[in-house]
Amino acid sequence: MPPQLFHISRRHFLQRSTVALAATGLPAWFLEQHEARAATKPLSPNDRPSIALIGCGGRGRGIGKEAAAFGNMVAICDVDSKNLDQAALMFPGATKFKDFRKLIARDDIHAIINGTPDHWHTLVNIHALKSGKDVYSEKPLTRTIGEGRRLVEVVKRTKRLLQTGSQQRSDARFRLACELVRNGRLGRLRHVITSLPAGRHGGPFAMSPVPPELDWDFWQGPVAKVDYVKERCHGNFRYWYDYSGGTMTDWGAHHNDIALWGIGLERSGPVTIEGRPLIDEVPGGFTAASQYRVEYTYANGVTHTCQSTTSDNPGGGKVNDPKAGEMAHGVRFEGPEGWIFVTRGKIEASKPELLEIPLPSNAQRLYVSDKHIGNFFDCIRSRRQPICEAEIGHRSVSVCHLGVLAIRLGRKLKWDPAKEHFVGDKAADAFILPPMRKPWTLDSV
Ligand SMILES: NC(=O)c1ccc[n+]([C@@H]2O[C@H](COP(=O)([O-])OP(=O)(O)OC[C@H]3O[C@@H](n4cnc5c(N)ncnc54)[C@H](O)[C@@H]3O)[C@@H](O)[C@H]2O)c1
Repeated sequence: MPPQLFHISRRHFLQRSTVALAATGLPAWFLEQHEARAATKPLSPNDRPSIALIGCGGRGRGIGKEAAAFGNMVAICDVDSKNLDQAALMFPGATKFKDFRKLIARDDIHAIINGTPDHWHTLVNIHALKSGKDVYSEKPLTRTIGEGRRLVEVVKRTKRLLQTGSQQRSDARFRLACELVRNGRLGRLRHVITSLPAGRHGGPFAMSPVPPELDWDFWQGPVAKVDYVKERCHGNFRYWYDYSGGTMTDWGAHHNDIALWGIGLERSGPVTIEGRPLIDEVPGGFTAASQYRVEYTYANGVTHTCQSTTSDNPGGGKVNDPKAGEMAHGVRFEGPEGWIFVTRGKIEASKPELLEIPLPSNAQRLYVSDKHIGNFFDCIRSRRQPICEAEIGHRSVSVCHLGVLAIRLGRKLKWDPAKEHFVGDKAADAFILPPMRKPWTLDSV
């Protein structure tokens, strides 16, 4: 029997919880505690490390701006000179680079912000860590499970820090949901649903001349070289299996990360995976499944469905009950006492007291971070591990990579999360760490 946390009078707490702040949707008891537990410290002007941004697209510039509140941006890097110039307008004193290895060679830089596309994350991260830098890397942390295992080893060996950019961990709503679930508020957790946006679907696409500002060969890096197709590059790379895994890795790195946090297996993973595409992709078009459904089981008996919404409904459903219609994007935890649904900006439950009754003082509490990038800079000073350290980022994206493989292979996969290989399935094992395009290897940086 999991711990039941309803020993406090319901009436007493419903009275107190009427003061819950409408603006946040969080119960009052949790908000009070959150303010006391939130940790980002104010900085003195002398306490600003030198930082550099690698990958200056939309997200890189966004996260670079947030990081510049905590450190001095001294260098920026991109293989597209237009994006580099855009970043230079934001960080006028920063030195411009095209080759990240030259930027990383500078010994005055303390931390790297990595906003490159997914197929570049690991090479940039490993090179930065080996060169003594701490790293804030965008999610999905890796392109393959094998990259993730190697990255975790490098973090341990170099004693550097790596924060994965799965920022929902630093959002109090997601932590509240996971703390309640892990303390048995729903009874024994039975099932989790993660609902993700459908991906782009379309093609075939025409080749076109490489834009003069872009080094297309460098952009492709460790991935098989192909002629330039605009729809493969900026922003759209996530819909091609060459570079990423569709919304399964793009949004899955957020919502499946929360699923593992709530299940309490954030350093492990599922034991079986079955998946299928819901529609066919267009020959010559985007290759990643745009609509899909994957079923996972975990060794503790919890089951997990990860499903996309349909492109007919690109904003996602309106409800959080899949039986009542297409489910809204987010994470739904289910147990015998009811359900809790959490997404950006909203947390709901099947009955109000599931949220409103406070956790007791002896409850298991989770890592508190109220600002994801702030937590990274706190940790640079304290040398504490960040909330989304490498092992956690690696395990969360592994759930997504396993889902992608199940969809692609079209058969049930058995996974050993301790040894990180498939059980009796050499063909699937070949996907764990496929070779990179020369001269790139995990040892070349
Ligand atoms: N945490 C979040 O909520 C969130 C939101 C959006 C994007 N992201 C992630 O951020 C990353 C970037 O996404 P985006 O939408 O900005 O992509 P983008 O394609 O717009 O930008 C990527 C940039 O990296 C550059 N680049 C490619 N290879 C490089 C290399 N070897 N060295 C230096 N620069 C290189 C590209 O030229 C481009 O300017 C992705 O991994 C994405 O998943 C995270």
